[in-house]
Amino acid sequence: MAAALASSEDVRGTTSPNPPVGAVILDAEGAVVGRGATRPPGGPHAEVMALREAGERARGGTAYVTLEPCGHRGRTPPCAQALREAGVAAVRYAVADPNPPAAGGAEVLRAAGVDVAGGLLADEVAGGPLRAWLHSVRTGRPHVTWKYAATLDGRVAAADGTSRWISGPESRAEVHRIRAAADAVVAGTGTVLADDAWLTARGADGDPADRQPLRVVVGAREIPHAARVLDDAAPTLHLRTRDPRAVLAELAEREVVDVLLEGGPTLAGAFAGAGMIDRVVGYVAPALLGAGPTALGPAGVSTITEAHRWRVEGVTMSGDDVRITAVPAAGEGGP
Ligand SMILES: NC(=O)c1ccc[n+]([C@@H]2O[C@H](COP(=O)([O-])OP(=O)(O)OC[C@H]3O[C@@H](n4cnc5c(N)ncnc54)[C@H](OP(=O)(O)O)[C@@H]3O)[C@@H](O)[C@H]2O)c1
Repeated sequence: MAAALASSEDVRGTTSPNPPVGAVILDAEGAVVGRGATRPPGGPHAEVMALREAGERARGGTAYVTLEPCGHRGRTPPCAQALREAGVAAVRYAVADPNPPAAGGAEVLRAAGVDVAGGLLADEVAGGPLRAWLHSVRTGRPHVTWKYAATLDGRVAAADGTSRWISGPESRAEVHRIRAAADAVVAGTGTVLADDAWLTARGADGDPADRQPLRVVVGAREIPHAARVLDDAAPTLHLRTRDPRAVLAELAEREVVDVLLEGGPTLAGAFAGAGMIDRVVGYVAPALLGAGPTALGPAGVSTITEAHRWRVEGVTMSGDDVRITAVPAAGEGGP
């Protein structure tokens, strides 16, 4: 299952609105004979890719899949049927499919005499590669990760507006990998106008990566034609609204599942105030500025009892920076 999870990580950002799923097939002796991951929409699901590689060796073997195999015919035939026809004897999946039309694959397989069990590495899969997709199925809106880079005193730019660079090279490289795995990167007009932000995913050489998320700029002000965000390195959507709900509704219409909100502070504050941040990734750099904008603008909090409370998921070093990930504390968070 860990290998299936790793395969699914490789296709993050390429499968929406479908989930990034990984699959591994073992033969009857327990040797790995096939690996697969979800292809872009309309293409085969992970199980089918792994079965193709395994061929006849799948007969009597075991399939490990990060999501319960689908039991319905969508854009592709049901995976439960493909596994049954390949003669797989056992199926282990991590997370049950919450999507009513797709669910039921486990029952289809059991009815056909296949030994089926779920729950293996369920927390790792549900909190990792399937997190955004599960969230969007549950809520009907994309999952939003807010990312920022701040100094030890919480500032994201200096008093004169300069902000390059607050975080170190390791953190910046990681942000490019996170961008490449997102469906859309969102920033306010303030950030685009102040920084001429490009909002592309770039490799170590600074060149744009093969896969680019949709760039989304939110705000009423016009963006100059020469702005880098309007170049042809990636598609760009300018939403002339100030309503986070409307932004996410528009992105959901475009089959966006996984959103990376890159600020700045004003837009991030609006999203936090609307309860529309589902995860925070903060890079805290060992620097002090003493003046300049702080990471989050007004978020509807006027007194300490109204503070948005979060639970820290992880703290790691990223070069000289500290990387903190957090999710809303139980009972917190919005629609
Ligand atoms: N270190 C970091 O992680 C980081 C990240 C991003 C930005 N920054 C820094 O942040 C600074 C820019 O900050 P900023 O706050 O001006 O940028 P911003 O949040 O990107 O943009 C603010 C603008 O967004 C629009 N907007 C959209 N929805 C809104 C809403 N619900 N409420 C209010 N405004 C809304 C408004 O523009 P309209 O008037 O056009 O409607 C507003 O002026 C720059 O210095 C930049 O370097 C730092």
